[in-house]
Amino acid sequence: MRHRETGWLSFFYFYYRNNLPFLALSGKRCEVVIHQTEHIVRHKEVMGRKSAKSKEKKQKRKEESAKLAASIQKVADANAVEDPLAPFAAFRKYDRNGLCVTLDTRRVEDCERDTVEWAFNLTKDNMQTLYEESDWGWNDRDKREEMTDSRAWYLVAKDQEGKPVAFIHFRFDMEEDEEVLYCYEIQLEKAVRRKGLGKFMMQILELMAHRYGMRKVMLTSFKHNPDGQDFFRKKLKYEIDESSPEASLYEEDFTYVILSKTIPQKSPAKANGATSKAENGTS
Ligand SMILES: CC(C)(COP(=O)(O)OP(=O)(O)OC[C@H]1O[C@@H](n2cnc3c(N)ncnc32)[C@H](O)[C@@H]1OP(=O)(O)O)[C@@H](O)C(=O)NCCC(=O)NCCS
Repeated sequence: MRHRETGWLSFFYFYYRNNLPFLALSGKRCEVVIHQTEHIVRHKEVMGRKSAKSKEKKQKRKEESAKLAASIQKVADANAVEDPLAPFAAFRKYDRNGLCVTLDTRRVEDCERDTVEWAFNLTKDNMQTLYEESDWGWNDRDKREEMTDSRAWYLVAKDQEGKPVAFIHFRFDMEEDEEVLYCYEIQLEKAVRRKGLGKFMMQILELMAHRYGMRKVMLTSFKHNPDGQDFFRKKLKYEIDESSPEASLYEEDFTYVILSKTIPQKSPAKANGATSKAENGTS
């Protein structure tokens, strides 16, 4: 439209800009040609924009599925590791505050039956009432199933007599398209609490998350467990995860929160095999 209104000069300019062949045209016929030519150019522009947009979309989809595949691969790689604690030799022992324990990670299928039974009973002792006070309720069979799922890893602390005193059940898993280390359970016997062991064991999870490229350490905690809330939120600086129902309008409906800590990702040099301070035992 603009070209017709501004006369001949614009007409020549328009032809010149669009590399169109000059034709000897005049009057009405000329207007029709300009109109048609404008239409074709506009159509080409729109089609060009559309195909650029769909290319962009396609490219974005490609990048997203490549990212998802890479995340799934990271989880698979982490789960394939023989012993995730192996790079952190300095963290195999905790000898502080009158407590001396050794630590060890294993897949649930490699744990002794007695250890798994002990872990279940400790969880039941520590948590049954809290579960019953929540919407979830307590169910022995469900808890056993969760604790013996083939994806379960255990970090177990044993005293000098070889008796287990604390454990974490964790998994390398996908959570909302992200690779995460999920802490399903941290349970300590009463006698070994408030001696720094819980914090030390959570540090081990964070180190492993970093080592195996997980983006977050995540966990679910009951709001009515003040010890757990204080420990994770005040002491360890875990924050409410964006997936937590607390972030929604229906906060009152939920008795739990999902907490997480973002794990800084490894620099390319470290990803290629350089060791960290913790792996060198210099932390
Ligand atoms: C919660 C739990 C894992 C904490 O482990 P822990 O070894 O007792 O804690 P730590 O000694 O490492 O404490 C780390 C910090 O948290 C603080 N803390 C630990 N327990 C606390 C509690 N009950 N109330 C307030 N702060 C607490 C400590 O003061 C310490 O801070 P500091 O470094 O300034 O001294 C452990 O007490 C436990 O197993 N409780 C029963 C099961 C449970 O509730 N699990 C969590 C489910 S979400």
